[in-house]
Amino acid sequence: MMKQTIGLVGAGNMGTAILEGVLKERIAAPRKLWVYDKVAAKAKLFARKAGVRQAVTAEELFQRAEVILLAMKPQDLPAFAAENREFVKPGHSFVSILAGISTAGILRAFGKKVPVVRAMPNLGAKVGESMTVVCGRDKKSLSCAVKLFFGCGKVLCLPENRFDLVTAVSGSGPAYFFHLMELLEGFGVRQGLPREVAAALAVQTGVGAALLARGADVPCAVLRQRVTSKKGTTEAALKVLKRGNFGGIFQRGLSAAMARSRALRQRKTV
Ligand SMILES: NC(=O)c1ccc[n+]([C@@H]2O[C@H](COP(=O)([O-])OP(=O)(O)OC[C@H]3O[C@@H](n4cnc5c(N)ncnc54)[C@H](OP(=O)(O)O)[C@@H]3O)[C@@H](O)[C@H]2O)c1
Repeated sequence: MMKQTIGLVGAGNMGTAILEGVLKERIAAPRKLWVYDKVAAKAKLFARKAGVRQAVTAEELFQRAEVILLAMKPQDLPAFAAENREFVKPGHSFVSILAGISTAGILRAFGKKVPVVRAMPNLGAKVGESMTVVCGRDKKSLSCAVKLFFGCGKVLCLPENRFDLVTAVSGSGPAYFFHLMELLEGFGVRQGLPREVAAALAVQTGVGAALLARGADVPCAVLRQRVTSKKGTTEAALKVLKRGNFGGIFQRGLSAAMARSRALRQRKTV
């Protein structure tokens, strides 16, 4: 179990999903987890439901917790940092999941030299299946963050200069899979299936394919080839996709996501 006390800032979708994972996997004791939100009722509700502690003010959170998990929206960071930088003391460290805000940006915002770990989880955290990438220079803080994110899925360490790429691939990734399932469902509906039946076909197929890919000892390309028999139905579909340059268009989409991540990061003033 983790010895450090964790303080969550922002009891929203991601922050609460991360703490729920920590509790479910018994990574830290509930009494070691504190939550603060600018809307006190939100923090109170989560603290009650999850059995963790509520910090009524940000000052209290900094007093109680050593590891501060920043999980508000990126645009809320400058005001939060300006109001609370005086409470940051040696012994504190930050774990930030704020998209597009670099480690240097966090340090600049608080104006303090404490360890920072930057993390990019994804929506899978809500079901314990996030792909989280972390980076950080301080080994102790990095190992603490890795433990923290193991609660809500898989964790990898990569250098910070890969974060725009990671944002495009796994950060935004769930939406691409939703879109593919949306397209499968839409086709089923247009061909006369009731929506719930079409949705079940699409989603369960996605779940099965993802689990097969995760358990396989060969790349996805090989799995695809194995289920694509010559002159079969799958081959007929894939041929049309190839002719229409589906792969090329998808690559362009990913490049656009990466460029957007870079642009947002460069535009951030913190
Ligand atoms: N969602 C994803 O898939 C995903 C993936 C990777 C990274 N992220 C990052 O995760 C972070 C959180 O995203 P989310 O979807 O969980 O957002 P969210 O549901 O809006 O949660 C953010 C929470 O922080 C609260 N908050 C705002 N300002 C605050 C302050 N000064 N002090 C304390 N709490 C404050 C918000 O309150 P109000 O609602 O009242 O403003 C809200 O409850 C973002 O920075 C995002 O970039 C998200």
